Amino acid sequence: MERDKRTAPIGVFDSGVGGLTVVREITRQLPNENIIYFGDTARVPYGSKSRDTIIRFSEQIIRFLKSKQVKAVVIACNTASALALDTVRYEFDVPIMGVVIPGARAAVETTKNHEIGVVGTDATVQSGMYTKIIHQMNSEIHVREKACPLFVPLVEEGFKEHVVTEEIIEYYLESLKKTNIDAMILGCTHYPLLCSKIREYMGDRIQIVNPAYETAMDLKKLLKEKDMENDGVEEPVSRYEFYVSDAAEKFVNFANTVMPFDISKANIVNIEEY
Ligand code: DGL
Repeated sequence: MERDKRTAPIGVFDSGVGGLTVVREITRQLPNENIIYFGDTARVPYGSKSRDTIIRFSEQIIRFLKSKQVKAVVIACNTASALALDTVRYEFDVPIMGVVIPGARAAVETTKNHEIGVVGTDATVQSGMYTKIIHQMNSEIHVREKACPLFVPLVEEGFKEHVVTEEIIEYYLESLKKTNIDAMILGCTHYPLLCSKIREYMGDRIQIVNPAYETAMDLKKLLKEKDMENDGVEEPVSRYEFYVSDAAEKFVNFANTVMPFDISKANIVNIEEY
């Protein structure tokens, strides 16, 4: 494959800041790759929206990312992965992957007693996509899904360490904690930002699975298969660009609490134009 396809960026998107947990992992595992991130901060949350709307939003964002010549797209949002991936992957001539399959696989490999819990948005849980994918991998596994819609605004508002967050974690997770699950998937890219509190509440018996790690591994595999890996020879320093549909300053402040490097700006995009 010719040089410029290899140095082209990876497009990553989410409904807001949650996808940064996936970007963080991609930068760790694929340090030579350039990244264009889009956070749909004007239209978050996706978790309470219909399938048709989530597909339309995803199509607009992929058209925007394609205008930046991305070589692959990662849907770093469980809701869009669960509801839109099956549609958009056939509509665009660029490889597109989501976070649900990597997350499901990680949990299947983690569980010892075949009891898995999944927490996510209303839309993800209602889609039943995690259960479906896990059952394709192993039909004997019992899956319990639980929607935790208030986790997203808590993260977006920076309430990671707040006492209110602890109460809401208990409110949502009390019933799951009483079951036999030994692995629990954080099926929303915002939730890893509450990981330490969730882990503290669920205790050592339950392994918490964050799909971000497996997603970055799958991306690495995909780039290798398609001969699209960036070896970093041409541009030794990777470029990361951030775009949002609203509230750029708030996004930058938040991103700087999540990412291991400084982000100086995010550009506003009128995503409805795409
Ligand atoms: N970060 C998104 C996800 O992984 C959802 C947050 C939302 O927009 O509701 O599902």
